[in-house]
Amino acid sequence: MAGLLNGDDYRAVARKRLPKGLFEYIDRGTEAELAMADIRQSLDLIKLQQAVLAGHDNVDLSVSLFDRKYSCPLIIAPTALAGLVSHDGEAKLARAAGTFGIPFCVSTQSVMTIEDIRKGAPNAELWLQLYVWQNRALTWNLLDRAQGCNAETLIVTVDTPQGPKRDYNHRNGFAIPFVPTVRGISDVLRHPGWLCSVMLRYLMTTGMPSYAHYPPEYRTAITRQTAADDVKIEKTLSWDDIAEIRDRWQGRLILKGILSTVDAERAAQIGADGIVVSAHGGRNF
Ligand SMILES: Cc1cc2nc3c(=O)[nH]c(=O)nc-3n(C[C@H](O)[C@H](O)[C@H](O)COP(=O)(O)O)c2cc1C
Repeated sequence: MAGLLNGDDYRAVARKRLPKGLFEYIDRGTEAELAMADIRQSLDLIKLQQAVLAGHDNVDLSVSLFDRKYSCPLIIAPTALAGLVSHDGEAKLARAAGTFGIPFCVSTQSVMTIEDIRKGAPNAELWLQLYVWQNRALTWNLLDRAQGCNAETLIVTVDTPQGPKRDYNHRNGFAIPFVPTVRGISDVLRHPGWLCSVMLRYLMTTGMPSYAHYPPEYRTAITRQTAADDVKIEKTLSWDDIAEIRDRWQGRLILKGILSTVDAERAAQIGADGIVVSAHGGRNF
């Protein structure tokens, strides 16, 4: 990894190592990918004003957030299926976050359960990202599990009322659940490093990776057909649901995907502790 000096270098290696379907799932956006380009441009337009002659021996990037101090102003965002990139990838991310003194946010759609991630990273500060499922009893059960793992902060993603339209994923055959096609299988076979170090390792230990937080009776391996409606993301999620979550969840509550001041104010009124101003990387709605 010594030769990997920046994000572009890592991206180039990932493109070679990962099956095309998985790489594009991570790398690309939705529809015509205009939102991705727009977000990139917005970030590029940010300029920082320097103050000269103010050097420090020890550079301190620490920030205080919710009465805690973190070593730098970063949080590892929830990313579905991170465990497909590297075997036990979610635990690795959590350990890295713990080492750097920043939180790791577990995705509802992770390949490892929050319990296993906690076991693999006992000292990490874990947050849980919640996609509210159509079956509320199952959803509340997931919240209980998160609390049982000492996750004090809940991020509810509110910007995904519809499954994203990712045309390239239709073309390259990548879908969850993963449906084996000639194209998909030959894609995997052309990436033996990933096949051996990730997929075969799962197959020889825990079996075909799946969305680990689905309750066992719904946990279809990703090679099987669609998941039950119960664990589909709620399309009609509303402010009333957020009020109910606020009542149920004792810890900090953050809404992810707020993009207007009107919605931000409403989040504050309803008792949210914070918001994530995010367009989901231009990959969802
Ligand atoms: C591969 C991948 C999977 C993601 N999965 C989730 C997810 O499960 N839940 C979620 O809320 N956001 C998910 N995101 C979005 C990220 O959390 C984050 O919002 C996005 O990378 C853009 O960063 P930003 O929100 O800081 O602008 C995913 C992003 C990527 C690239």
